[in-house]
Amino acid sequence: MEQTRQSRERLRDTIPPMEWAIFEPEIDAIHRLKAERNAVILAHNYQTPEIFHGVADIVGDSLALARRAAETEADVIVQAGVHFMAETSKLLCPDKTVLIPDLAAGCSLAESITAKDVRALRERYPDVPVVTYVNTSAAVKAESDICVTSGNAVQVVESLGVDRVIFLPDEYLAHYVALQTDVEIISWKGHCEVHERFTGDEIRQYRQAHDDLMVIAHPECPPDVLAAADEVGSTAQMINAVSSRKPRRVLMVTECSMSDNVAAEVPEVEFVRPCNLCPHMKRITLPKIRQALEYGAPRVEIETDVADRARQAVTRMLAVR
Ligand code: 13P
Ligand code: SF4
Repeated sequence: MEQTRQSRERLRDTIPPMEWAIFEPEIDAIHRLKAERNAVILAHNYQTPEIFHGVADIVGDSLALARRAAETEADVIVQAGVHFMAETSKLLCPDKTVLIPDLAAGCSLAESITAKDVRALRERYPDVPVVTYVNTSAAVKAESDICVTSGNAVQVVESLGVDRVIFLPDEYLAHYVALQTDVEIISWKGHCEVHERFTGDEIRQYRQAHDDLMVIAHPECPPDVLAAADEVGSTAQMINAVSSRKPRRVLMVTECSMSDNVAAEVPEVEFVRPCNLCPHMKRITLPKIRQALEYGAPRVEIETDVADRARQAVTRMLAVR
C-alpha cells in the first residue's frame, strides 16, 4: 500500500526492518479499516513512531488535538492517546463515535483529583474561578469554569481579568504559570508521573557531558528542571523550536517517544535522550487500534449532564485566542 510505503521510508532510520515487518500488515489493515469506517486517528506527540508516522491522520499536543477533533468530518475518531484526550474529543463531537484502543490508558494527573475535591475547593474559596488543566476527567472539567493546556495556560488565566484563580491539578504547571503572571494562583498537589522524575542535577550533568546542548522542558517538570532549561513549552512548542531552529544537539525533557518522532523528521539534529516513558500512552498499540476499528469498541461515553457542563469549560478555552 502506498501510504505504508511512505511511512516505511520516513522511519527507515528509526524502526529496524525486522520490527517493521511485524508492523506493516497491521498498518495496511488500519488504513483499509479507516477508509471503510470513515475514521480518523488522532495521535498525541507521545505515541510511538509506528503509530505517529505510520497510521495517524492528525498529530499534535493536547490543544491541537482538541481543536482538530472539533473540526473533523469523519464519523469515527480513534484517539491514540490517553482517556482524558478521548473524552475531550467526545465533548467536542458528541454525535461522533469516539474510540479509545485501551480504556485503561489513564493519567496520574487526571487521577489526582475528583469532582468532589473541586466542589470542596469552591466552598473554601467562593467566587474564585476554577481553571483546570485538560489532563483531568470530564467530571472534573464539569466543575470548572475554564480549561487550559500546557500551551495556553498563562494566556487563559490572564484572559479572565481576575486577581486570583484556583489552578488544578498540576502543581508544577501552576508554579510555572505563577512565575509569568500577577494573578495569584491557588494550586493542587497533582503531578505527572513521567515529568516529576526529572531533576535539575540530571539536566546539569547532561550539559556537562554534551557541548552546545539546547535544553527544552515541558512545564509539567519540577521547578528546578525548568530553571535549568533554556526554554519551556508544550509538546508542540518543543517540536516547533527544534524543527525551526535545528540546534546541533537537543535534550527534550519530556516523554521519550517524542524525540523518536521528531528525530525522524530532522535527522541533522542530535537528540540526547533520557528515556522516561508514559505507561498509559504506551498501552496504545497498532493491534489495539486495528481491533478498535474492527469492532467499534471500546467507545467513550459521557453522561449528558456532565458532558454539557464539561463542554462549556473546554469551548471557553478554545474561544481564547
Ligand atoms: P501537551 O502535549 O499538551 O504539551 O501535554 C503533554 C502531556 O503530558 C499530555 O499528556
Ligand atoms: Fe499523564 Fe504524564 Fe502520561 Fe501525560 S505523560 S498522560 S501527563 S502521566
